[in-house]
Amino acid sequence: MTVTEETAPASHYDRIGGASSVKAAVELFYDKVLADPALAGYFTSVDMAGQRRHLALMLTVVLGGPNEYSGRGLAEAHQPLNIPVAHYAKVGEHLTVTLTELGVPADILADVQTVLGQVQDQVVSAEAGSGA
Ligand code: HEM
Repeated sequence: MTVTEETAPASHYDRIGGASSVKAAVELFYDKVLADPALAGYFTSVDMAGQRRHLALMLTVVLGGPNEYSGRGLAEAHQPLNIPVAHYAKVGEHLTVTLTELGVPADILADVQTVLGQVQDQVVSAEAGSGA
């Protein structure tokens, strides 16, 4: 045991201000995704509370926040939606722009990009995706 453990860095989620900042980001992100004609269709049959919950979960996951989600796995939830890589990339862009507008630091944005790359294969459809 050493006291240096106390200096362990806070998660990105904590650094940007935790749940309340994620909520603010969701509002901005939500407007961008639903205003994008390529993406709005995915959410037409999902109620508004469900849409916001989805975006909040997405942000929490990519920011390394607490995983309070105990529902379907990412692949199970998204494979039936046949999401192509191009649409996944658009969502990623809206997310990056949202976080940039909120003044999120560059090192956090870089890590968000990394996580988006890591979970892409679970979210995009195997057929529509690049596969390798
Ligand atoms: C990092 C990327 C993503 C993460 C972490 C993520 C996370 C999730 C989670 C956890 C769920 C399950 C929600 C639930 O069952 O309550 C879900 C569902 C869903 N996701 Fe995503 N998602 C991502 C990307 C996308 C993209 C790119 C799209 C569309 C272009 C999308 C559209 C949907 C839709 C339509 C649902 C169903 C919502 C519902 O039925 O309530 N997701 N997502």
